[in-house]
Amino acid sequence: MKLLITGGAGFIGSNFIHYILKKYPDYQIINLDALTYAGNLENLKDIENDSRYKFVKGDICDKALVNNLVKDVDVIVNFAAESHVDRSILDAENFIRTNVLGTYNLLETAKNNGNKRFHHISTDEVFGHLEPNDPPFNESTPYSPRSPYSASKASSDHLVRAYFNTYKLPITISNCSNNYGPYMFPEKLIPLFITNLMEGRKVPVYGDGMNVRDWLYVEDHCEAIDSIIQKGKIGETYCIGGNSEKPNIEITKKIIELMGKSEDSIEYVKDRPGHDRRYAIDFSKIKNELGWEPKVSFEEGLRKTIDWYKTNESWWKNIKSGDYQKYYEQNYSNR
Ligand code: NAD
Ligand code: TYD
Repeated sequence: MKLLITGGAGFIGSNFIHYILKKYPDYQIINLDALTYAGNLENLKDIENDSRYKFVKGDICDKALVNNLVKDVDVIVNFAAESHVDRSILDAENFIRTNVLGTYNLLETAKNNGNKRFHHISTDEVFGHLEPNDPPFNESTPYSPRSPYSASKASSDHLVRAYFNTYKLPITISNCSNNYGPYMFPEKLIPLFITNLMEGRKVPVYGDGMNVRDWLYVEDHCEAIDSIIQKGKIGETYCIGGNSEKPNIEITKKIIELMGKSEDSIEYVKDRPGHDRRYAIDFSKIKNELGWEPKVSFEEGLRKTIDWYKTNESWWKNIKSGDYQKYYEQNYSNR
């Protein structure tokens, strides 16, 4: 099986590439990634000379390039996206370009190359947000995105479904809750707080710290995606969650405790505009139909994540200094 992974130099994509190469010795992977600020080839350093793996620097909006790559693969797994809500609030243009137009280009190319199998990675944020006592999101929750990021992801989901209904493109979609784990860019809550504490800095909690997210260890997400690609029903959507709803302040205090720091590090800052209050996911469909459920508890996953950031200090220090962006020129320029 030959997979085209888009956005494989990012957080979840790079974890997924490691997961697949480890699990399936005879699979081949092409990783198409534009290397935006979020793409980091150091995430894939250990497999860059593996004969089953090839990296292509490029944009999912590039029609000719995508067409050349799609011709030769069996499955496309689309991770590529602008993914950070705060950035989408400052400037949404790249979110519309990559998340909407880029997904459209991939779908169109998949259709024009014999209707290739297409799995689209999406988020629970397309469903909007919940009040404290609302039931969790599931596959039939109406879409109600509230940030430019989630609106762009919702648009891409609609396009993916439209290509199934209109052209019978063999698609599946997964809507997942917040991930955490190795290789997560230190602009998101958990890695930002771990690395700030390691640097002796404060951790900025937005608003009252009572916004709730459902957290899933990234390896569990990779396993869920794999089970959808292998056994998922064409045309269907699967919600993926961690069974681990927590307010931000509880996570903040847990990280502080596990790292042996003081709660004086907490700094309450101005709230995010339109800050979604709560996300929660009912993942009974994927559990009942495909036999997937999360394996890693939040406490275990958080410990593993803190350990990973402690043993990989140069990885995140290179990001904070900007040096990681030189990796491509230094290591790929004469390939
Ligand atoms: P990320 O920001 O870490 O990585 C995104 C990757 O896409 C980067 O390597 C970047 O260089 C690449 N990219 C961006 N624009 C591109 C373009 N035009 N062409 C080619 N490559 C491009 O994101 P992530 O956290 O790994 O998320 C991956 C996917 O999972 C996204 O679609 C996101 O919406 C979804 N998701 C993320 C989470 C989460 O908690 N991080 C939760 C649910 C769903
Ligand atoms: P984030 O990791 O950005 O993911 P998302 O917005 O996609 O859920 O944020 C997770 C939660 O943490 C969210 O409620 C916003 C909050 N947050 C902070 O309180 N401080 C921060 O510095 C960041 C980045 C996030």
